[in-house]
Amino acid sequence: MTRGSPRSRIRELRRQIRYHNDRYYRDDAPVIPDAEYDALFRELARLEEAHPELFDPDSPTQRVGAEPVESFGTVVRELPMLSLQNAFGEEELREFDARVRRHLESRGVAGGRGRKDPCAYTAEVKIDGLAVELTYEKGSFVRGATRGDGVRGEDVTANLKTIPDVPLAIPRNSSAGPVPEVLDVRGEIFMDRDDFAGLNRGRERLGEAAFANPRNAAAGSVRQLDPRVTASRRLRLWVYGIGRIDPGASVPPPFGPFLFATHRDVLDRLHAWGFPVNRGGTRGSLDIEGVIAFYQEVEAGKDSLPYEIDGIVVKVDELAVQRELGEVARSPRWAIAAKFSPDRAETTVEEIVVSVGRTGTITPVAILSPVTVRGVKVRRATLHNQDNVDAKDIRVGDRVVIQRAGDVIPEVVESLSAKRGAPGRGSPFRIPDRCPICGSAVTRAAGEAAHRCTGTDCVARRKESLRHFVSKNAMDIDGLGPKVLSALVDEGLVAEPADLYRLEREPLAGLDRLGAKSADNLVRAVERSRTPTLGRFLFALGIPHVGEHLSGVLARRFGTIGAIRAATPEELSAVHEVGPEVARSIRDYFESAEGRRTVDHLLENGTLAIRPEPPAEGVFAGKTFLFTGTLGLPRAKAKEIVRRGGGTVATAVSRRVDYLVAGENPGSKIAKAKEMGIRVISEREFLEGEFGGGA
Ligand code: IVH
Repeated sequence: MTRGSPRSRIRELRRQIRYHNDRYYRDDAPVIPDAEYDALFRELARLEEAHPELFDPDSPTQRVGAEPVESFGTVVRELPMLSLQNAFGEEELREFDARVRRHLESRGVAGGRGRKDPCAYTAEVKIDGLAVELTYEKGSFVRGATRGDGVRGEDVTANLKTIPDVPLAIPRNSSAGPVPEVLDVRGEIFMDRDDFAGLNRGRERLGEAAFANPRNAAAGSVRQLDPRVTASRRLRLWVYGIGRIDPGASVPPPFGPFLFATHRDVLDRLHAWGFPVNRGGTRGSLDIEGVIAFYQEVEAGKDSLPYEIDGIVVKVDELAVQRELGEVARSPRWAIAAKFSPDRAETTVEEIVVSVGRTGTITPVAILSPVTVRGVKVRRATLHNQDNVDAKDIRVGDRVVIQRAGDVIPEVVESLSAKRGAPGRGSPFRIPDRCPICGSAVTRAAGEAAHRCTGTDCVARRKESLRHFVSKNAMDIDGLGPKVLSALVDEGLVAEPADLYRLEREPLAGLDRLGAKSADNLVRAVERSRTPTLGRFLFALGIPHVGEHLSGVLARRFGTIGAIRAATPEELSAVHEVGPEVARSIRDYFESAEGRRTVDHLLENGTLAIRPEPPAEGVFAGKTFLFTGTLGLPRAKAKEIVRRGGGTVATAVSRRVDYLVAGENPGSKIAKAKEMGIRVISEREFLEGEFGGGA
């Protein structure tokens, strides 16, 4: 079949896909089935790949990530992104206010009678994420860069395009007024606590190093050579300011056609243009006492926010006054970051041990004299890897500072002994050359931070693999806690997953930690797990980089375990979520002697009967959802999820509604819904289907 030149076919496909996007996202009224849409999308992606000369940054394919870039380009900016000076506590906030006033008085700017106070402040919560600048030309998103050194940032455009919160265009002809020729929008990319914890759980299950905090996770996810990795992480954006704006940058306020007299005006306009502004986390028209009250209020409530914050940012509201104040040492005089005291404590390292993960990763762990950090007793802290231990020079016997941030595993921040040059310290710690569990050689691949045990038969690895295999989201075998599993392995009853299915009641009941009743329950739980869905089975194998979500995707795409085992790297890479690294990892697993043996044994003699993966559609079938408040996801995306799951979206509270999904700052719908007995669920519950209405 001929379809004209690639150029005209690409143009036609882009036109059609944009049309269907509008029907789907804007009008809530798709006119073709999803499968047909997907086919158009795939055809376009293939053609674009074959014809790089026809690349267009505005193509609908660019929303979801492009081919990996070789390395980041550099963006040099005219208006540097400044950093902020810090204040700790109330006193230092008062000093900031006094400095601002003194400076203004010396310049003859004073709040005379009848005039507005020149130093009214706006305060915003300070999210500890990754600062980025998004550049729009004629309303189109053309470039996104990290802050870098302020002047030179890394070009991460392709990655930022995969983040749903990043608008690809500023709508024209909207009530928000004219669109600037050039606009730089500045903000923070971050990750919600739950998503961060989920990401780390997944990484640990896969034997990958956990991210130390949400900031690192967000930064690591954006500074990725493969945009598909960025796309797979749940990143969010809040914007908090602008850089260049043209026309207008050099014109004093009012800025040409843009009537910005205050920082609040800027935020309001950004919001009207469709940028995510954290309105719930912003308070305006404050004097310094109001700022301090806000600081205390936010600190008291910070643990109940869905994201981590490390302070507030206080800004002089009037732009003319900001200009008058100017900057010093690359920080503005008109703003300050008021930080909260971190969750840190001092203690002693009693011992340094190593733990061996499922894929052999060796992680050094500090055993500490117990210390309480914000109500939680901490006995162990991760040292991450050898480089980290070396850089911080952490040794047994050292006094150290440890930090616990949110749900993150506590970590050692610094060694006070190293800093003070304490005499008579122990010798530097080295990860052993041989695995302390199995004695196999320990290696470190070039370019990797982690050391790994090379023993495929390592008992520690085997135990960790089994632990993953039986875990809730994998084969879900109840009653097989780490201790019982460990005993089973030590007693020689279980060496690989298939052995679990040969367990009999008698020897089990004889085990140290197991009574007769538990043995019965365990045998029954093992029986129940004989018919996993393909996705669960795949996930349970614990292939590096293959998490729960991807397992489901692969299961639906390939249909059978045989097809997945036989898939070539090209076939695997054709799956949207699979990059070259992931494809390689899957192939390596199925080609390895260990992987082949594990799977063969699980499949032979009908040990397991794998069920096909149920379609992703249908999880919301027959249910009606209503949304209220600010969601982390764009509304259109949330609606799309419901519709793809076979559900319906309502626009008002009525008896037809089954679930009200409440975001931040919900309105009056909640009370009304509760009155009518409608279930109110959080966005998280909605996304994870954990409300009894899911699959
Ligand atoms: S204003 C000159 N506002 O904090 C103004 N920054 O410690 C500079 N941040 O680099 C930034 N929330 O990454 C501003 N509401 C907020 C912020 C914020 C988080 C980050 C930003 C900045 C860093 C400075």
